[in-house]
Amino acid sequence: MFSPRSFLTVLLVGVASVAWAASAPTEKKSAAKSPNPLVWDAMEKTVPANAGDGAAEFRFSVSNTADQPVEIREIRTSCGCTVAEMPASPWVLAPGGQGSFRATVDIRGRFGKFFKTMMVVSSAGAQVLAVTVDIAPFPELTRDENRARALGDRQAVFRGACYSCHVEPIGGKQGALLFDAACAICHEANPRAEMVPDLRSARGPRDAAFWRTWITEGREKTLMPAFGEHQGGPLSEAQIESLVVWALKSLPTEPAK
Ligand code: HEC
Ligand code: HEC
Repeated sequence: MFSPRSFLTVLLVGVASVAWAASAPTEKKSAAKSPNPLVWDAMEKTVPANAGDGAAEFRFSVSNTADQPVEIREIRTSCGCTVAEMPASPWVLAPGGQGSFRATVDIRGRFGKFFKTMMVVSSAGAQVLAVTVDIAPFPELTRDENRARALGDRQAVFRGACYSCHVEPIGGKQGALLFDAACAICHEANPRAEMVPDLRSARGPRDAAFWRTWITEGREKTLMPAFGEHQGGPLSEAQIESLVVWALKSLPTEPAK
C-alpha cells in the first residue's frame, strides 16, 4: 500500500493542501502552520478499471488525532463525475475517532488515466484527496469490429452495445462538456483513427452553417454519424447550437497560413 512513490505523492499532496489552506484568504495564519489532525489512510489512491465499466469506487479512512472533536462539513469534488458520500452531514469525529467514506467516479466514456481531486473541508482546515482511475485501453480487436459495424451503418454508434460509451455520457450536456462527451471520443482519440479528421485544424473556412450541417447530418458512407434528432441522433437542436457556438469560439475558423 505504502510504496515509496505513493509516500512521495502523499507528501506532495500534503504540501499542496497546506499551501491551499495557507492561500485561502479567510484562513488564519496559525491554522496553516499546525498539521491537520485528520490523518487519512492515503491522500492519493489509484484503482484499475476496464473501458466500458460504469464507475470506479474508492474508500478513504480517517482518524482524528486531535484531543477535541473535528467536524467534516463538506467533501467538495472537482467535477460532477465524482460523488463523495459522507456517513453523516456534518460528519463529526470524536477525539481518537475513526471513520471512512466512499467516493464514486463516473468513468463512462473515459479512457486512460482519469485523475480527480476532492477537498475535505473541516473545522481543522482543508485537505485535498486525489483519486486516479487507471482505465485499461479498449482492445484493438473490438475497435476494428466496431469500425466495421459503423461502416455498414454510421448510426449504429447510437444504439445497442455502442450506447454506453457513445451516447450515455452525453445526457443534457452543452458546449465544451458536450464536445468532450459526444465528439472527442472519435475526434480526440489517442491514437485517432486515420479516417477521423483532427478538428483542431481547419481544412477550409468553417462558419456556423459548416458546424451545424456536419453535426446534424454527418456524412453518408463515412464513420461520421448524424447527431440530429430527425436522423435518429441523440442531440436536440439546442445542444447542436451550443456546440456551434463553442466550436466557433474555441476551434480555428480558417486554415492555418
Ligand atoms: C467501451 C466503450 C465503447 C463502446 C462500447 C464502443 N465504442 Fe466506439 N469508440 C470508443 C473509443 C474510446 C473510441 C476512440 C478510439 C479508441 O480509443 O479505441 C471509439 C471510436 C469509435 C469510432 C471511430 C473510429 C476509431 O476506431 O477510432 C467508431 C466508428 C466507433 N467507435 C464505433 C462504435 C460502434 C459502432 C460501437 C458499437 C458496436 C462502439 N463504437 C462501441 C469507445 C467505445
Ligand atoms: C463515431 C466517430 C465520430 C464521432 C462520435 C464524431 N465524428 Fe465527426 N467525423 C468522423 C469521421 C470519420 C469524419 C470524416 C468524414 C469524412 O470522411 O468526410 C468526421 C468528420 C467531421 C467533420 C468534418 C471535418 C472536416 O474538416 O471536413 C466535422 C466538422 C465533425 N466531424 C464534427 C464532429 C462533431 C462536432 C462531433 C460531435 C457532435 C463529431 N464530429 C462526432 C467521426 C466521428
